[in-house]
Amino acid sequence: MRKRLSRIGRSYRLWRVRIGGSHSNVDMTTPWSSAAARGTVGLCLSAALLASCKTPEPPVTLIYPHGSSFQADYLTRGVALSQQFTRTTGIHVSDVPVPEGTREQFSFFHGLLQRTPAGLDLFETDVIWPRLLEGDLADLRSQLAGEIRLVAPQLLASYTSGEKVLGIPYDVYIGSLEYRSDLLQEYGYDHPPRTWDELEIMARQIQDAERAKGRTDFWGFVWQGAEAESLTCNALEWQFAEGGGRIVEDDRTVSVNNPAAIRSWERAGRWIGSISPPAVAAYRERDSMAVFDAGNAAFNRLWLGASNARSVPLSEVRWRNGESRVPSGFTRLPSGRLAQAGTLGGSGLAVSLRSAHPREAVKMIQFLIKTRVDSLEKRRNESDRDRFYVQPDTERADGSPELQAVVHRPSIETGSHYTQVSARYAAAVHSVLTGKRTAAAAAAALEQELVTLTGYRPGAPKTPR
Ligand code: GLC
Repeated sequence: MRKRLSRIGRSYRLWRVRIGGSHSNVDMTTPWSSAAARGTVGLCLSAALLASCKTPEPPVTLIYPHGSSFQADYLTRGVALSQQFTRTTGIHVSDVPVPEGTREQFSFFHGLLQRTPAGLDLFETDVIWPRLLEGDLADLRSQLAGEIRLVAPQLLASYTSGEKVLGIPYDVYIGSLEYRSDLLQEYGYDHPPRTWDELEIMARQIQDAERAKGRTDFWGFVWQGAEAESLTCNALEWQFAEGGGRIVEDDRTVSVNNPAAIRSWERAGRWIGSISPPAVAAYRERDSMAVFDAGNAAFNRLWLGASNARSVPLSEVRWRNGESRVPSGFTRLPSGRLAQAGTLGGSGLAVSLRSAHPREAVKMIQFLIKTRVDSLEKRRNESDRDRFYVQPDTERADGSPELQAVVHRPSIETGSHYTQVSARYAAAVHSVLTGKRTAAAAAAALEQELVTLTGYRPGAPKTPR
C-alpha cells in the first residue's frame, strides 16, 4: 500500500512540476504582442543560443554489441529498442552482432573490454562471466539502485562481487523441454515425460512408430552435445537431477566423481545412436532447434525465456525465442532419481570501465530494464499461452511433490577459474558421449584436474534445497 502511495505521490509531483513550469515561464493568459514580453523572450532566446553555442554537445553513440545467434530475431528486436531509445534521449546506439557460442563470445567481449578507447560501452554479460571480467566492469550499485529494486533479488547474486554490482539481470533462460504435442496425443500420452526414464520410453516408441511410417530421419530426443558451454549446461542438468552434485559445491568441494554423476553421463552416452542422432555430439542450440523445427524429433532440450522482474515470479512464466514451426508443448526437464533441474542461463547488462559514455550507457540500461519489466507485466496479464505460459504444477508418478531446482553453474564458487572448470567438464563428458573413455575413468580424471586447478578438495554432492 505504502509503495502504491509513493508511486502515486511521485507521479503527482511530476504532474505538478509540469503544470507549475508552464505557468511560471509562459503565462498562457498574457498576450505575446506586448513589447516587454517580446524583449524578455528575445533575451532568453539569445541567452539560450549563446549557452548552447558555448558547449556544443556532440551526439553520443554507444557501442552495444548484442544478439546471441541462436535467437534468429534477437538483433532485429534489439535494433528496434535502440531506435526507440534514440528517439526519446537523442543518444545513438551502434548495434554490433556477436559471434555464436559462449566461449567465442567471451573472447570477443574480453578483447573489446581491454581496448582503449573503449571497444564497447555496454554489453550483455553471460550469467557466468561477471567474476571473470570483474576488473573490466563498472560498479553499477548506486547508479542503478532503482532498477536493482525492479529485478528478482535471487538473480542478482551471479552479477555481484562483494559490494559491487557488475551487471543487472536482463535475459533469463532456464533449461527446459519442448515436445511434439501432436505426436504425444497420437501415440496416446496424456502428459509429457516427468522422468528421464519416461522420456526414454516415449522417445523410443514415437521414433519407432514414425520410422515405421517411412520417416527414417526421425529421432526421439535432440539436445546440445558439442564440446561447448552448452554441454556443461546439459550435463549439469542430468547430473544434478540424479543427485550427482553441481560440479563444484557452495562449500568449495569438487563433486564430479560419484556414482550418480557417472550414471547420468552413462545414460546420455546410451542415447546417442538409439534415441538421439550420432551428430548430437556436435550440436549446439541452433542445431537441435533446426532438427526439431523441421519436424524430425519428438523432444528437444532448449532454453526458455523467464522473468527477470521481481513482480513476475521466475517459476511462473517461460517463452520460446522464435515461433514454433511444429505443434509444440513446453515443460520442465524430466526428473532424475533426486530432483528436477534446469540450468540457469541468460545475461545481464553491464558497462565497460573504460567506456567514454558511462552516464549514457547507464541511461540505456535503465531504459532496457524498464521496458522489459513493463512488457513482462503486460504479457503476464494477457496470458498468451502459446509463447508465454504458466508452468503447470507437477508431481512424481507416486504422487509425492517434485523437488524442483534451477541449477546454477558454479561460476561464483570458481571465480576466475570458471572457464577452465567448465571447459574441462565439457571435455570429460564429451569423451564419454563419443565413447573415448568410460564414465568412471572420465570422472576420476576430471576430479583430479579440477582439484589441481582450483585447489579445492573432492566432496560428496549436496542435496538441493
Ligand atoms: C545461452 C545461455 C547462456 C549459456 C549458453 C550456453 O546463451 O543464455 O547462459 O552460457 O546458452 O550455450
